[in-house]
Amino acid sequence: MTDGALGKHVVTVTLLPSGRSMEVVAGTRLHEVLVAHGGESPCGGNGTCRGCRVKVVQGSCLVTERQRELLLPRELREGWRLACQCMLTEDVAVLQAAAPAVVLVDDAVDRFIAEAGYGIAADIGTTTLAVQLVDLQNGRVRGLRTALNPQATLGADIMSRLEAAGRGEAAALTASIRQCVGDMIAALLQQYDVPASHLKRVFLVGNTVMHHLFCGLSVEPLSHVPFETTDGGLSILPSSSTFSFLCDNTEVVFLPCLGGFVGSDILAGTAAVQLLQAQGLTLLVDLGTNGEIVLGQGGVALCASTAAGPAFEGARISCGMRAGEGAIWRVTDERGELRADVIGNCEPVGICGSGLVDAVAAAVRLGLVTSTGRLKDGRLLNVAPGVTLTQADIRQLQLAKAAVSAGIAVLLERWGTEHGRVETIFLAGAFGNYISIPSAIQIGLFPCGADRITAAGNSALRGARKLLCAGDKRLDQAELVVASVQHIPLAADPAFLDYYVDQMSFPQPDAKPIELGVPL
Ligand code: FES
Repeated sequence: MTDGALGKHVVTVTLLPSGRSMEVVAGTRLHEVLVAHGGESPCGGNGTCRGCRVKVVQGSCLVTERQRELLLPRELREGWRLACQCMLTEDVAVLQAAAPAVVLVDDAVDRFIAEAGYGIAADIGTTTLAVQLVDLQNGRVRGLRTALNPQATLGADIMSRLEAAGRGEAAALTASIRQCVGDMIAALLQQYDVPASHLKRVFLVGNTVMHHLFCGLSVEPLSHVPFETTDGGLSILPSSSTFSFLCDNTEVVFLPCLGGFVGSDILAGTAAVQLLQAQGLTLLVDLGTNGEIVLGQGGVALCASTAAGPAFEGARISCGMRAGEGAIWRVTDERGELRADVIGNCEPVGICGSGLVDAVAAAVRLGLVTSTGRLKDGRLLNVAPGVTLTQADIRQLQLAKAAVSAGIAVLLERWGTEHGRVETIFLAGAFGNYISIPSAIQIGLFPCGADRITAAGNSALRGARKLLCAGDKRLDQAELVVASVQHIPLAADPAFLDYYVDQMSFPQPDAKPIELGVPL
């Protein structure tokens, strides 16, 4: 088809499973279309990660050399392509392997100090954004907006954002996130008929890199050893220059980081689960590319971050994908065989993080994978038709779980076991909410019984809301958490490497869980 006005050749792209169609100029890269509609490009479209896989079910896209290198012959035969390597020349319909991410939110009312006006609590995640409009009079959530972080077009994880900033894109990263969050706030105010002058404050939380990029601070210190920053404190931002539609008397605050890569999302989570008020030893764990851990009780705590890699998010896994339609999210073993459950009850497209943990746990139980992580028979673990795990995939999971459990072990050692066993583990974030706790224990991620592990939901957003509604004490409470939590840099701790090597293996299927609070 030709666009008469401009004389350009136009093609139609249909995105499945949503069925949305749009017209674009021929020659456009397919991944630009996907990104504009919530898709991701984990390596920034550089053709190195496979994260932009799509299955061309109608029309065709040329197979390039790069795609031959990254895709299996079987995948190419089935029509899989890398969107970042495809120029559109004809009408196509494509099925996305990387479905839009799930955003976890709740609207529970915590203790609040009643006051007139409204507030905004915003969780600035590396992948997703969640913004809530809160009525400060009663602590209730009036409205919610969620979105994908627009910075994801330059890479899925914080390391690729740091690389992008290092290439001179820091200002663009700051502008895009402020624009997107500003649009979300403006849409909420309009939807609920709240004049901007009634908005008293905006509280933002996020990891350290999101904090720095949002506040326009240099992320250079975070891109090399010792990965420490001196700019991670509470940032009070000029309201009208941050969000042009706000009045000068609206307080815009990005809450302070706890140290290293442990950001204000974990500070808020600590407040949400009342970790510092706990009588028994309590752990808060956020599982992701960057695993973050807080351990404490009775007013003091330790925290650390550990580079787990992207396996828990289904990235860099040969058939991996985010949790979305077509993803295998649960795997069980029935009569000696693996049985997969797929989101949307459709044909499986790939496997997400919770499915990966389940599949490997089941394979260990069935003796298909040894406790050292070796695939016993053949080179592939068949999870479902067309979805397999390779030896390298299993290694990725071992690296991720070893990083987290070694981090926990170091904090326990620093804490000292004479204080007793860990009473409660809170799992923060979406992955912590969906992971099968028995499978996580089976692979040795948490060395304790399931009865002490609780999913805490989006504790970052809930904690931001709690501090937002704390009246005059709001900033003092945030600073009190910072003063009470000591950051332990794991990279500099020799014990971490020892634990890391130990934790690479999977426990024997019939092994009893090791008691937390006792050296691992
Ligand atoms: S391979 Fe296409 S975005 Fe990474």
